[in-house]
Amino acid sequence: MSKLWGGRFTKSAEEWVDEFGASISFDQELVMEDIQGSLAHVTMLKKCGILPESDAEKIIEGLDVLQDKAENGQLSFSVEMEDIHLNLESMLIAEIGPVGGKLHTGRSRNDQVATDMHLYLRSQTEEVLILLNSLQEAILNQAENHIETLIPGYTHLQRAQPISFSHHVMAYFWMLERDKQRFTESLKRINISPLGAGALAGTTFPIDREYTAELLEFEGIYENSLDAVSDRDFILEFLSNSSTLMMHLSRFSEEVILWSSQEFQFIELDDAFSTGSSIMPQKKNPDMAELIRGKTGRVYGNLTGMLTVLKGLPLAYNKDMQEDKEGMFDTVKTVLGSLKIFEGMISTMKIRTEVMDKATKSDFSNATELADYLAAKGMPFREAHEVVGKLVLSCVQKNCYLADLTIEHFKSASSLFEEDIYTALNPYEAVKRRNSAGGTGFEQVKLAIEKGKKLVAEY
Ligand code: ARG
Repeated sequence: MSKLWGGRFTKSAEEWVDEFGASISFDQELVMEDIQGSLAHVTMLKKCGILPESDAEKIIEGLDVLQDKAENGQLSFSVEMEDIHLNLESMLIAEIGPVGGKLHTGRSRNDQVATDMHLYLRSQTEEVLILLNSLQEAILNQAENHIETLIPGYTHLQRAQPISFSHHVMAYFWMLERDKQRFTESLKRINISPLGAGALAGTTFPIDREYTAELLEFEGIYENSLDAVSDRDFILEFLSNSSTLMMHLSRFSEEVILWSSQEFQFIELDDAFSTGSSIMPQKKNPDMAELIRGKTGRVYGNLTGMLTVLKGLPLAYNKDMQEDKEGMFDTVKTVLGSLKIFEGMISTMKIRTEVMDKATKSDFSNATELADYLAAKGMPFREAHEVVGKLVLSCVQKNCYLADLTIEHFKSASSLFEEDIYTALNPYEAVKRRNSAGGTGFEQVKLAIEKGKKLVAEY
């Protein structure tokens, strides 16, 4: 087909330009949504008397055929037809004749593409939510088995205070709970119909937008036709929620990587989630955790890319917006894949209880216990901190730990120290006694697991 400005272009250059403008290589992902949207649109055209019943029925039959073919992978798309919308429309016309050309009455590709993406992100968000919930379940299972397993707690990656292993992994449970809330909340804005907004201004045909919204199970319609075709906030929100989720998985991955190192040896990953080295026979690498940490970068990139595409766009549709798709598809694939892998990795990892237990006994992470001990007996905490600091220093000089000091040594530092100081220094006791709300005390951890189980079951 010749273009208005075609005179000075050669045929091959035109093909190249067409190829650059086409989106069919990636938007064919929306084939089912596009057919679903068209079915709703033509059903409405029929109901409103905009198309004669017989025409509408022919179109519906044609769309059904295309749907079957799509399900069986029998559609072959072409770059000449540019995108999924024009490809399907031309296939419909090939299938049922010129009457297929009536489908686009009162509609534009602008409201059509927006509708497709709302439908797509709705089902993908639901999928993300299901996987998030089952990852939470996997965390709960590990947590339930390790309430009294101790692990050093860190700040600045320096040993800080001993904590329950369950408490540590449950921290991630709550992050994922917030992710779940964010994705759930975003569904409100995804579940709105842009269909019927036309190119930007609405249409002269007596369409019924509420009816198509109802057919597509949307909860409402966009109030403003320009906003309906220009809005990509719902995609940004998905990318942003995905970035936060991936950040959580990435932090957890980093800990899994550290814990499985020779230096920590706190966990052992299952063979199914590790790989070997092609040269070093002893290696067992935490590749899956590293990949999830790495893939977080591309999800952030997709968010930044989309924000940047949108920032200077005037209303309403601009071709720039075709760039909204690849990052969205890539993010969906990355998030779903990461969640699945993570669940498998967490539920199969072996917790090396003895190593962690030994670690909590070979450090100064019980120093706070001593300071609290003195403070509980009336010494101002600041003073207690100083006294204990000196005791730690003398241990460092003697090359021993606090529990190795004699009672005389303690008493010479402060007369408030009694024999029971050794119980206070025991990391198990230290964890058990941290029974403040949301703390690592075993009772608190049990309560948290109960709450968590309810949330997961209710979902
Ligand atoms: N392929 C286009 C996209 O994904 C569809 C909308 C085209 N609309 C238009 N007015 N050119 O954005």
